[in-house]
Amino acid sequence: MYKRQAAAPAHDLDRPHLAMTYTALATLLTLGDDLGRVDGAAVARGVGRAAAGDGSFAAAAVGCERDLRFVFCACAVSRLVGDFSGVDAAATLRHIGACQAYDGGLGLAPGGESHGGSTYCGIAARALLLDGAPATAAAGADADAAVTWCARRHDGRGVVGRTNKLPDSCYAYWVGAALRCLGARHLVDTTVPFVLSCENRKMGGFAKYPEDTPPDLLHAFYSLSSLSWTDPRFRAVDPMLGICAHRLPPR
Ligand code: FPP
Ligand code: ZN
Repeated sequence: MYKRQAAAPAHDLDRPHLAMTYTALATLLTLGDDLGRVDGAAVARGVGRAAAGDGSFAAAAVGCERDLRFVFCACAVSRLVGDFSGVDAAATLRHIGACQAYDGGLGLAPGGESHGGSTYCGIAARALLLDGAPATAAAGADADAAVTWCARRHDGRGVVGRTNKLPDSCYAYWVGAALRCLGARHLVDTTVPFVLSCENRKMGGFAKYPEDTPPDLLHAFYSLSSLSWTDPRFRAVDPMLGICAHRLPPR
């Protein structure tokens, strides 16, 4: 990815991977790097190689696992390097729409069960493709139905990832961020008490549930990210990209 002679792959599976690319760029930005040494055109070529042709994206090259997680990563890294040439926006918006289930949420692939994680990936990718503009009816997924699905994931205590599951701190981020990407203000503040109850005051960090679960880095990161939208002590995380907004490169 850096602008220098790339080393030859040491192994057949040692290929550029969209999730690793997203994570690497997010880490560089979070640490204060300006991505000036990153070869953005090479990143965009890698995105194009992972495109399956129908608007979906594989993790690395066509043939490996392929779902909305990689659609999100493809759109996010394209935005971060300012080069969307690897993404067919119209096909990708259509594909995101095809992942929307009868109940308004999105599954990881067409026909899949609605889930907070996949709904986030599809709705954030859609927002990135629409350049952060509030949702419009013309853009693949039914935005109003997605807002309703997301708003209904609050079970009175916290946010669940899917119907009939227990509330889990990470969905305050996934579902809250999807709502923000849709221009909706539902759930604002209402998730805070549940997320705070997941903090482990002895060990530090946040767990997925309030009781009897150990804290972990994923739930700490996403708990704090959701709190960043309402707590003035934090700098806000951008809901489309999952990175502190003040660290993002200009559009
Ligand atoms: C648990 O499934 C799965 C998760 C907690 C992760 C879901 C998140 C994503 C797919 C988003 C990925 C994000 C990026 C940025 C690529 P489960 O079935 O065990 O959980 P459940 O019981 O809560 O439904
Ligand atoms: Zn979780």
